[in-house]
This record gives sequence, C-alpha cells and structure tokens, in this order.
Amino acid sequence: MTATALQTKFHPVLEGTLQLEVTNVSAQTDSITSITFGDPLGELLPSYVPGSHLVVQYGTGANAYSLTGAGNAPREYAISVLRVEDGAGGSLAMHALSVGDRVQVSRPRSAFAPAATAKHHLLIAAGIGITPVLSHARYAAEWGASASLIYVHRPGTGAHVQDARDLLGSGLTECTDRGSFQEVLTRKLTTQRLGTHLYVCGPADFMDSVLEQARDLGWPKGLLHSEAFSAAALDDGQPFAVNLARSGITVEVPAGVSLLETLENAGLSIPNMCRKGICGECAVPVLRGVPQHRDLYLTDQEKADNTTMMCCVSRSLDPELELDL
Ligand code: FES
Repeated sequence: MTATALQTKFHPVLEGTLQLEVTNVSAQTDSITSITFGDPLGELLPSYVPGSHLVVQYGTGANAYSLTGAGNAPREYAISVLRVEDGAGGSLAMHALSVGDRVQVSRPRSAFAPAATAKHHLLIAAGIGITPVLSHARYAAEWGASASLIYVHRPGTGAHVQDARDLLGSGLTECTDRGSFQEVLTRKLTTQRLGTHLYVCGPADFMDSVLEQARDLGWPKGLLHSEAFSAAALDDGQPFAVNLARSGITVEVPAGVSLLETLENAGLSIPNMCRKGICGECAVPVLRGVPQHRDLYLTDQEKADNTTMMCCVSRSLDPELELDL
C-alpha cells in the first residue's frame, strides 16, 4: 500500500493543511533522500521564513521536516529525510514516496528564524541537522547577511555539502571528527563579534553540549537558538482539572493521559495531526491558569503569553485550567 493510500484510509483532510503532490525524489546520500512537494495545479505555495518546518502526515502519524529551499513564494517545498530503520515509521514512509503521490502537510512554521537584529549568524549543524540551517544560509546569501557555518559530518555521508559550500564559501568550516569540531567550536565561541546569534541543530546531546559551552562562555540566552528534530520523551505529568468555559463542565486529566485524550473522551472534537507537539493543529485557547508547555510548536513568546496551548502534550502548572471550549 502506498503512503497516499494510507493517508486516505486514516486521515480526514484537516482545515488549513495543504494537499500536495510529490514532484521529485532524489538520493542525497545512501541514507538521506530529498523530496520535493508541489501544488497539484502548479500554484505558488505559501512563503516561509528560514528555519521553517513542514509537518507531513504518514499512515497514522506525522513528522516535522525542515524546509531546505528558499521560502519566498516557492513553487515547491523541499525536505531531506534521514532513513531511521528503528524509528516510528515516518522516515521509512517518506523514503517510500514516489513522484505523483499525494501528501497532506501543514503550512510551514518556524520557531528557528534568523534574528532580525543579529550582526552575524553563527550556524552550527551536525548530520541531518544541516537541513534547517541550510535555509538560513540561503537567506544570508540572498540578502547579504553575515553568516558562517560549522558543519559536522562524516566523510562521504554529509547531505547538502556542496550546497553549503556554494552558499557560504569561506564562511563554511567542515569538521569530520569530534576533536577538530571541539577546537573550531571553542575558537568560534570566543571570537565572535558583539551581536552574533548562534543557531544549532543536530542530535540532542550535540545541541546540549554546544549550548552549554556557549552559556559557560557567557553567551546570553537570547542569542542562542536551537531546533530539535522531535519532541523529547515526556513523563506522565501531574493530574489536573480543566474547566470548559462554554459548556461549564469540569473534567479531570489523570497523570499519563493527555489533555487531548481527555477532551476527546468528554465528547469534544479537537483537530489534531501529530499528537506529539509539533504540528500546531491541536491548539486550544486558555482563559485562566498557567499551562505547562511541552510542545515544539509555540514560540517562547507565545508560551510566555499563556493564552494558547497544545493539548496533545502540554499540561498544567496550576491545579486547574480554564479553556475557551
Ligand atoms: S496534534 Fe500536533 S501539536 Fe498537537
């Protein structure tokens, strides 16, 4: 069964999502495939800012993939996907796509955009973490922004290596082992001009290490940006209550049960797509109380506002929340 058939079987078309067609599939490396999607009628697609991702549905799940192309009135969306044999199945489904298959995707979204006030953009990527950083490099090349990239990849297995070379020229430093990376990283972290913003993407321990070293060297939190591949494993959380303002009922959310499941069990129909905090479909408006935001969708500012929450993963810091439902 093709991925398209699976989607038709399991997923209704969600309002606000896009129905696109696979227009090209090409191998980047032995384990990384690039896929482009276009409008079936050839229309322009919604623009996006660098660092944006797309949530693509597959079977009963959905995954976020960084957009690697240029985002100004694009005709195609391009993603590159690392094949993960023992993952949840998303990467295998992407690798099984063929030209002409239809997919349902979210509109592009970014919580990893370049800072408008940055004097320099220091990009750091490891492995498939090159994908969101590549659109930053495209943006810098197109608009004349100052940018440099440290790209860690194993010899012969790096994706988009030539793209990075073409876009950044001498601003690219390639590292193929941990020792040389650490030496370059320490030098770059200690020699940046004032107003430099740092952007990192790669495996979780790689990002944690880079961010920790930057903080230890005095980089302010506001200059540090990171893009996780997927939501971390979440604990069961604490039980809490939710008052539904429109119906006046209160429901209890037990530990280990999501707010989304609780709302569904109470008979509400909440749009959802990924059920893991990345697509933004399950946003619910918060009237009272402080959510425990655990998603990768909302920006830091949106989380601080506490007026909306992703009910598939987020919970409550207060004993009770009130939602506009
Ligand atoms: S369903 Fe995707 S963020 Fe909740």
